[in-house]
Amino acid sequence: MHPLLNIAQEAAKAAGKSIRYHLERFDAVEIQQKGRNDFVSQVDFEAEQRIIQTIRKYHPDHAILAEETGRHKTNSKFEWIIDPLDGTTNFLHQFPHFAVSIAVTENGKLQHAAIYDPVKDEMFSASRGEGAWLNQTRIRVSEQKELENSLMATGFPYYQFDYADEYLAGFKRFMTETAGIRRAGSAALDLAYVACGRVDGYWEYNLKPWDIAAGALIVQEAGGLVTDFGGGENYLASGNILATNPKLYKHMAQIIGQTAPANRKN
Ligand code: IPD
Ligand code: CA
Ligand code: CA
Repeated sequence: MHPLLNIAQEAAKAAGKSIRYHLERFDAVEIQQKGRNDFVSQVDFEAEQRIIQTIRKYHPDHAILAEETGRHKTNSKFEWIIDPLDGTTNFLHQFPHFAVSIAVTENGKLQHAAIYDPVKDEMFSASRGEGAWLNQTRIRVSEQKELENSLMATGFPYYQFDYADEYLAGFKRFMTETAGIRRAGSAALDLAYVACGRVDGYWEYNLKPWDIAAGALIVQEAGGLVTDFGGGENYLASGNILATNPKLYKHMAQIIGQTAPANRKN
């Protein structure tokens, strides 16, 4: 395993341990509201601290972009992109589906990724060119090629609603043309589930780089395709992401292309 992936996994497990600790003592968790439907708890901050401490132990010079504490700039060509707790709303309702997401870029290119689900003890990981893994087992995207037999994942808009109608137009198409849609509440795990074939495809608008950086690399290394809504590679910047196996890509891209608003095509 590449040493940076090893560190990413160590950091994700340390954060996961802290999250599990607080889940078991949930009554003591303090919650703050960042914005409409946007909550954060000391659990998010503590998990992020654990991750940053682990990275700093080995690479004090590396740059970091972390959801709760922002950008820690350095001159390093390496940057760590961190979501300490993806699925905070689930966590705050004790709905046991959330994850730690950590990606490493080198000169802006994704190189390593780890997504850790501390409830199921599942570590999804990948290094560029080395394939994708769930714990010790190699994973691949599904072979499903029929839209009507495929299970989709998505995330709903929950604080910015100006594109809700277009989102719902796409949602209606997927609802009527697939075998089903899941909204499980963690973008990182949605992508990890595409990578291991638990779902066949995933789309969501308006995400942040820390929601999707690790998952995008894991899907690609599992043989899947990841694009923005115009078929390009701008998804980390735009936050509009489509991920699926190569056989379903055309079908999904067509629905997205016909329903997404013009200003969200990339
Ligand atoms: C959220 C989750 C959710 C997605 C949201 C994200 P957070 O991340 O990934 O599935 O729909 O857009 O913001 O806030 O729980 O880290
Ligand atoms: Ca997130
Ligand atoms: Ca988060």
